[in-house]
Amino acid sequence: MDAPAWPPYLREIMLHAVRILAIIVTLLLGILWGAAWFGRQEGEGIAESFARLATTLMGQEAPPPSAGGVQLPQGMSLGGPFRMQDQAGRTVTEADFAGRFMLVYFGFTYCPDVCPTELGTIAAAMDLLEGQEERVVPVFVTVDPERDTAEVMADYVARFHPRMVGLTGNAEQVSAMARAYRVYYAKVTRPEMSQYLMDHSSFIYLVGPDGRVRALFRPESAPEAIAQAVRGQLRGA
Ligand code: NI
Repeated sequence: MDAPAWPPYLREIMLHAVRILAIIVTLLLGILWGAAWFGRQEGEGIAESFARLATTLMGQEAPPPSAGGVQLPQGMSLGGPFRMQDQAGRTVTEADFAGRFMLVYFGFTYCPDVCPTELGTIAAAMDLLEGQEERVVPVFVTVDPERDTAEVMADYVARFHPRMVGLTGNAEQVSAMARAYRVYYAKVTRPEMSQYLMDHSSFIYLVGPDGRVRALFRPESAPEAIAQAVRGQLRGA
């Protein structure tokens, strides 16, 4: 038996309603993505920003990062071998840090505010390690080797912590290390600026004695939270 046919005028109205609904949904999604794009925080991807915005709009708090930092998804491995130059111009590899933990941050010395803040956070976390700081090396890796020579790095890292290591290299070495840590970076030039900037992701990595990333910390993490996670790892090591 055939389903009863809808009167033509009703079908017309239904089709219109569906079309209008589709347009509204598309517009709303567009607005949301736009808001996510402009509301991105440094180091935050568009998808992450969208997720944060969506949870906020649905009346839920975005989940706070755990005290141990962001846990790596199962099976995901970050870090590993690298070959760079330290601030004294010596070639160094992961083997030079073997057996010690590292707190690693990627950035550039010309960064106006975010990099200094995050390096200050690492330095503050180091000071909270209560006699265990010798087991941890704070490391700053430049994503701007063009300007950040070993000399520039030496001057810069000394401002943050007496034991902070600055790593630079040629473009290939820097890009290989950034890739191993899934660090995004790109040169940004604007007509009104005489100097270029680097756009870059902004996580602090806790690296184990095996050279593998154990945890990562979002931008603006508290030094206490980082120190707590490091102390936990040191106890287990
Ligand atoms: Ni920066």
